[in-house]
Amino acid sequence: MVRPMTEDNLISAFAGESQAHMRYLLYADRAEQQGYPNISRLFKAVAYAEKVHAVNHYKNIQHKGDTKTVAGALFGSRTVEEDLQNGIDGEHFEIDEMYPAYMAVAKAQEEHAAEVSFRFAWEAEKTHASFFERAKDAIINEKDLEINQIGVCTICGYTIENEPPDRCPICKAKKERFTLFQ
Ligand SMILES: [Fe+2]
Ligand SMILES: [Fe+2]
Repeated sequence: MVRPMTEDNLISAFAGESQAHMRYLLYADRAEQQGYPNISRLFKAVAYAEKVHAVNHYKNIQHKGDTKTVAGALFGSRTVEEDLQNGIDGEHFEIDEMYPAYMAVAKAQEEHAAEVSFRFAWEAEKTHASFFERAKDAIINEKDLEINQIGVCTICGYTIENEPPDRCPICKAKKERFTLFQ
């Protein structure tokens, strides 16, 4: 069995990533409707990365049956700019607070699989925060984001512009394992 505290963290992270996935798909629709196709494409790519994280966490949860989930979630945005700010705030919470704490608990409890799942997500979220910052700079000037093809690693969620590397810098997956958003 996974130790209870690490398992609680996996369940919470699964809930948080699942909600982030859906929130970013909603934001992608809004960006598309408002004439920002590249920001829309960025949200779709990052939504996919959050799904990768949710799936990784889910696979490490051994609890069977019903349980309540508690996860931080951002609500209330009504414009593309606010959506991007929600994205920035959510990613920074995960980078600065959530995943470092979850990794520390998993390490202390010698839950190596969970620790890897948290670390993959933590590293990938750093790439997301910087993309959203770029998009916010563009939209402040009422411009769409200038961005080429976006690749997302299907193993860890690492997200990169242009050609994916031969090996993912986070999980070492081969280039062929990247899903492209173009
Ligand atoms: Fe993210
Ligand atoms: Fe990866």
